[in-house]
Amino acid sequence: MKIKVLTIFPEMLKAALSESIVGRALEAGRFEVELIDIRAYSENKHKNTDDYPFGGGAGMVMLPQPIVDACEKNASGRERRIYLSPRGRTLTQRIVEELAREEELMLLCGRYEGVDERALELCFPEELSIGDYVLTGGELAALVVIDAVARLLPGVLGSNDSAEDESFTTGLLEYPQYTRPREFRGREVPEVLLNGNHALIARWRREQALKLTHRKRPDLLKGAPLDKKDRAFLDSLES
Ligand SMILES: C[S@@+](CC[C@H](N)C(=O)[O-])C[C@H]1O[C@@H](n2cnc3c(N)ncnc32)[C@H](O)[C@@H]1O
Repeated sequence: MKIKVLTIFPEMLKAALSESIVGRALEAGRFEVELIDIRAYSENKHKNTDDYPFGGGAGMVMLPQPIVDACEKNASGRERRIYLSPRGRTLTQRIVEELAREEELMLLCGRYEGVDERALELCFPEELSIGDYVLTGGELAALVVIDAVARLLPGVLGSNDSAEDESFTTGLLEYPQYTRPREFRGREVPEVLLNGNHALIARWRREQALKLTHRKRPDLLKGAPLDKKDRAFLDSLES
């Protein structure tokens, strides 16, 4: 997969993309990220990328010309183009899975009060939000999308870091995890995890996932694939 990011702050993304799992995956060529500096496409003599809003109001608006040129000059025609915006659909694990199946993505990071609407009409038909709050710019939102997508790409997570069992992937929140020591400040690791009985461990984890989801995110249970045993367990929690 190739991800192109249009931004006026490419350095902001560079630092975050050079570390840890994503940094290693990029270095190993598991996927590619190209940072495109919108400012380099400005035809304005001062290389401006923003101006005052028509109609008045606070703040500045990103000019359409540098964005549309940056998009068109870097487009392959195969990419799914997305403007990171609080107006967009809210990102979920389902959308992340959908994006991870794309061959190419082009992400636009806004700044100031946002982007001239015509740039969006011409180049970025889709908008995606990372939540119902407002950031100062789309760069952190783009990093969230890249990070979540990257970990689903083949070869990005090591064999020890499976993406299969995790919160939202199964439709439920993940069960509690424990590591050494077996006892910490008087708190013991649940006995079932120590006895090597894989069927019992799997059932315990499933029930813990159901219990946590029931307690913290009951809304998720409506869409989760549940079998008879799961339903009986949830009924026992209700009673
Ligand atoms: C200060 S915000 C602009 C907010 C805009 N005036 C509004 O009320 O919708 C600047 C930029 O940050 C990005 N941004 C802010 N909040 C976001 C969110 N929740 N999800 C994705 N991008 C966001 C967008 O790219 C946006 O153009």
